[in-house]
Amino acid sequence: MYKACLFDLDGVLVDTAIYHFQAWKNLGKQFGYELTEEQNEQLKGVSRVESLNKILDWANYLATQEQKAAWLIEKNEDYLRLISNMNPSEILPGVLEFLQQIKDLGYKIALGSASKNAEIILEKTGLMPWFDLIIDGNKVSKSKPDPEVFLKGAEGLGLSPETCIVFEDAQAGVEAAKAGKMKAIGIGEAETLALADKIIPNFIGVKAAELLQF
Ligand code: BG6
Ligand code: MG
Repeated sequence: MYKACLFDLDGVLVDTAIYHFQAWKNLGKQFGYELTEEQNEQLKGVSRVESLNKILDWANYLATQEQKAAWLIEKNEDYLRLISNMNPSEILPGVLEFLQQIKDLGYKIALGSASKNAEIILEKTGLMPWFDLIIDGNKVSKSKPDPEVFLKGAEGLGLSPETCIVFEDAQAGVEAAKAGKMKAIGIGEAETLALADKIIPNFIGVKAAELLQF
C-alpha cells in the first residue's frame, strides 16, 4: 500500500549537517556564543530564520531586525562557501544503492527539505535525476515539525499521506512526518528519534523490501 518515499536532504542523503553546524558556530562567535553539539541537534530540520532565533534565545542576545537580516545572509554565504566543493563523494554511504532498490520496487521518490539550498546540493552531488518531485524551503511557509513540507510532497505526487514513508535524521522532521500521518524512518540514533516507526543508523546494506514493510 505504500507508494512513495519522501527524503529529507541534510543528514539523510548528504552530510551537510556538519556544514550547517560549522556555519552557525562561526556566526555565534560574533556575539561571543559557543554553540554546542547538543544544541545543534535541535537545529536540525529547522529553517534558517528559526535556527537564528533559537541561537539568539540561547545566547540571550537581543538583536535588531537589521542585524538578524544581515546575519542570515552572512550565515548562508558562509554555508555556500563550505558546500562549494561538494561532489558525489559526499552522498552518504548506501544511499545510491537504496535509491536504486526503491526505484526498482516502483516507489515514487520526493524530497522534503527545509533547505533553500536543496537544489544546489542535489545538482552538485548528482542526486537530482532520482527525484520525481522536490519540495524545499522555497516552497513552504511553515518549518518542521509542521507537516507542510511532507504534505505538499504527497499532494504533488498525487498520493494520500498515508501511502508515504518519510526518511529523517531530525527530531523535528520525524514529528512533521507523524503529524502528517505518514510512516517515519529515522536515520541516526534512537535517543533523538524516539517517535520514528523504525530507526536505522544509516543506509549501508539496508534491504528496502524488508525495511518498507509495516
Ligand atoms: C534543514 C537543515 O534541512 O535546512 C537545517 O537540517 C537548516 O540545519 C535548514 O537550517 C535550512 O537550510 P538553508 O540551506 O535554507 O539554510
Ligand atoms: Mg536533516
